[in-house]
Amino acid sequence: ATAPTLFQPLKIRGMTLQNRFAVSPMCQYSADNGHLTDWHFAHLSQFIIRGAGLTIVEATSVTPNGRISPEDSGLWQDSQIAPLKRIADFAHAQGQKLGVQLDHAGRKASTLAPWLVTSRNTPRLASEAARGWPDDIWAASAISYADGYPDPRAMTLEEIASLVGAWRDAARRALAAGVDCIEIHGAHGYLISGFLSPQTNRRTDAYGGSFENRTRLLFEVIAAVREVVPADFPLLLRISATEWMEHLGPDQPTWDLAESVRLAKLLPAAGVDLLDVSSGGLQAGQRIHLHPYYQINLAGEIRAAIAKEGLNLLIGAVGMVTDAEMARSIVQESGRAATSGDADRAVEIAAEDAAGQVTYADLVLVGRQFLREPEFPLRVAQQLGVEVKWPVQYHRAGWPKGAK
Ligand code: FNR
Repeated sequence: ATAPTLFQPLKIRGMTLQNRFAVSPMCQYSADNGHLTDWHFAHLSQFIIRGAGLTIVEATSVTPNGRISPEDSGLWQDSQIAPLKRIADFAHAQGQKLGVQLDHAGRKASTLAPWLVTSRNTPRLASEAARGWPDDIWAASAISYADGYPDPRAMTLEEIASLVGAWRDAARRALAAGVDCIEIHGAHGYLISGFLSPQTNRRTDAYGGSFENRTRLLFEVIAAVREVVPADFPLLLRISATEWMEHLGPDQPTWDLAESVRLAKLLPAAGVDLLDVSSGGLQAGQRIHLHPYYQINLAGEIRAAIAKEGLNLLIGAVGMVTDAEMARSIVQESGRAATSGDADRAVEIAAEDAAGQVTYADLVLVGRQFLREPEFPLRVAQQLGVEVKWPVQYHRAGWPKGAK
């Protein structure tokens, strides 16, 4: 029998992944002045040696003031290349692929690592004493995320131009480190996504107002990165498919699924190969309709819209993937599981299957389950009856036949 789609290779431009599992980027708040540390090496190696087709390094800032926390990684200076290269070299020695997510945190920069925020009243702001930079916060407009967060200022046109240059330079450094792909972070209320939303972007210049203007910075960043990477180098983009602010009503335009679909259609021509569909994080007042497929559905909607136009854009789905059946169903052509735990969704899935509707996504990104269970892909393989290789050093450690 052929392997489930989940365990079939995926070609993204010049890069071929051995399966459809990717480790979603996850900040570790453990960098040293932007340099990845032994923590990152040990942390990421767990996934590299245990079957993840692609491992994506955490949000890595293109400028010092773009870090989410003072302990975030960066690629704004050449000394930051070597520790990333060490991980890329290790991945390649294991026959695996490594990507890096490049980011600028915008108005959510200079905040404390989450475990330092011990109560609801602890300000998120990392003060200067905590090695933060509360007086140098960039955003589309001077609107703070929430109480306790830094007060940003609206970027000048010169700063925007220098930021695009910083993306170009960081992409060059990522290439020098030998990574196999770059993901642009355009989600979660960080700088780029703050420009996308008409709620957080109140600019009246060429970077605000119309859809074309709000997406301008994103397209400039995409072009800057494409300019320095080889023609066969894969480029991923993560967006928030909605900011979950639809409750503001029709008079208050927000960044929503319709805008995301409109954006997605423009991405292949701009040189983006895979759209990684996340959501939320832009507004403290977001109202997420949470259920196991809440975000997978958004990926599926975008993928369907893209397929309708015959466009060539791969889709990544992420969020609450914890078991074999769900992972399998996301990328499988048929026979999706109605196991979402959401009765309405189960009925919808059954109807879509009956109508022969296609899959949700091409790649499954997984975050927290990898933290709980670094061998998640190997366990899923076992449960789906797929033969996969464990590292040779662990050759006697595979699960016994028939174990679940
Ligand atoms: C995250 N997430 C995240 N997302 C991102 O785009 N860049 C990042 O650096 C981080 N950092 C991060 C750290 C930690 C500790 C967690 C748990 C999450 C979000 C993550 O990539 C993923 O999208 C979500 O966690 C949802 O997927 P799971 O965890 O439900 O599989």
